[in-house]
Amino acid sequence: MINMLSREDLQNILEEGKTAIERASSLRELDQVRIEYLGKKGRLTSVLKTLGQLPPEERKEVGRVANEVRQKLEVDILARQDELSRAEKAERLIAETVDITLPGRQSVFGNRHLIAQVINEITDIFIGLGYKVAEGPEVELDYYNFKALNTPADHPARSLQDTFYIKKESVQPADDDILLRTHTSPVQIRVMKSQQPPVYIIAPGRAYRRDVPDPTHSPMFHQVEGLAVDEGITFGDLKGTLEEFTKQLFGRERQVRMLAREGFIEQPPENDQRIRLRPHFFPFTEPSAEVDVRCIACGGVGCRICGGGWLEILGAGMVDPNVLIEVGYDPERVSGFAFGMGVERIAMLMYGVPDIRMFVDNDMRFISQF
Ligand code: DAH
Repeated sequence: MINMLSREDLQNILEEGKTAIERASSLRELDQVRIEYLGKKGRLTSVLKTLGQLPPEERKEVGRVANEVRQKLEVDILARQDELSRAEKAERLIAETVDITLPGRQSVFGNRHLIAQVINEITDIFIGLGYKVAEGPEVELDYYNFKALNTPADHPARSLQDTFYIKKESVQPADDDILLRTHTSPVQIRVMKSQQPPVYIIAPGRAYRRDVPDPTHSPMFHQVEGLAVDEGITFGDLKGTLEEFTKQLFGRERQVRMLAREGFIEQPPENDQRIRLRPHFFPFTEPSAEVDVRCIACGGVGCRICGGGWLEILGAGMVDPNVLIEVGYDPERVSGFAFGMGVERIAMLMYGVPDIRMFVDNDMRFISQF
């Protein structure tokens, strides 16, 4: 009885095991089946454990059959394992397929803001002339912005209408009034107070004025300040420096030189960019001048942009002895020149930008053109 039962049991186990193996749809499921039938507590093992209860003459026979069943199941499992792993691999390959014929995703490249580009261009020219770049704070003290620059207490720029004040306790100017610098000239004072001559620096940066925005006015704008103090500096040095600067910036001297070097043109044409100095007044320079360049649009004949052929691009002059004394320099020993230019204005002239507000509108259609 036990004998028969056991044989039948074994037969059932084989049949059911085969079916389970066949039905296993993943390697995981197949492993579960293996454990269920052949594992330590599996169905075949349980049968083998009852072997001892059989009469000795049948033990051998049942044991042989049980071993056969195990071998058959093992073979089936291996075969199914092979099948399943092939299928799973094929599926993975399909899932991971990359369609190399699909169009790629365009990455959008940024570009420097035109104002930053022009500042870099101006800076490069002066670095080429031996100048260093200096910086100062945009939130400044009255002392550096006005007083040390020889600007009198009743100067209109000091009025509440013209300057953004952050701390101002009385109508009378005080050295420690805090304001947004109205020009980059205070950097001159900070540099001179921190070092002895010779000084050759430019200071690019933002400046602020209480102007109502219109096509030529913006409450925030950029300037590049320049300062040279040394023994024997003359007005001729100022003129020569600015002439060289304007030749390089507006005469596109560098590009032309590069073209010649690369063999695109035989010889750089003569750069006839000229400047014109008109007498002017600034509190911190004496004498002072406003500097014009020949119109870069019409070359000096006169057009809609310039009117009479000339464009005003900067203010300049010889550093006032009062300023030198204020920073502790000896005006008998050293002299200097200074200049300041508006970056927006220069960018507008160079690129034909009609409205200063376009620089801060953040309209990509405008910004990405440059
Ligand atoms: N700070 C002047 C302004 O904002 C520009 C200027 C004029 C700067 C003459 C200078 C200078 O250094 O010498 O209008």
